[in-house]
Amino acid sequence: MNKKLLLASLNWFYTLELEQVTLYEEQHRASNDDYIKEVLKHLADVEKGHVENIKKSIRELGSEPSRVGEIIGPIFGKPFSELTTMFGTVNLFNINILLESRAAHDYYKLINEVKDQGLLDVLIRNSIEEDMHRSWFVEQKRQLNKKKFKGQI
Ligand SMILES: [Fe+2]
Ligand SMILES: [Fe+2]
Repeated sequence: MNKKLLLASLNWFYTLELEQVTLYEEQHRASNDDYIKEVLKHLADVEKGHVENIKKSIRELGSEPSRVGEIIGPIFGKPFSELTTMFGTVNLFNINILLESRAAHDYYKLINEVKDQGLLDVLIRNSIEEDMHRSWFVEQKRQLNKKKFKGQI
């Protein structure tokens, strides 16, 4: 992969990570479940770490990070601002599962193209964290559906 393409790809992740920080912060504010609220705050912090490590990787390539336009809104065909307010817990889980899956999947794709070990370490660590976030939301959704099925909520 040439440097120009690599930078374009890293700026895409930079934008996605920034949007995920905003999304989790908004969800954190909107949530009235104490535990989920804390998890969302933790996730926003992890995504902030991703923003920082992608930013650092871009700078190490001699460039400055720049946003590439909207990413999350178009995935759902809605303005981003609408996504942060349309929760329902199940909606929240579904949106986050889809985004974390997309992030993990796209990190894996880039990992297969990159040779630099330092950058690979960053990308692999980020993708593992996205994968774990995804699993957490999948499990929460499963438990919620189980409770609904049993008529507990
Ligand atoms: Fe992330
Ligand atoms: Fe994540």
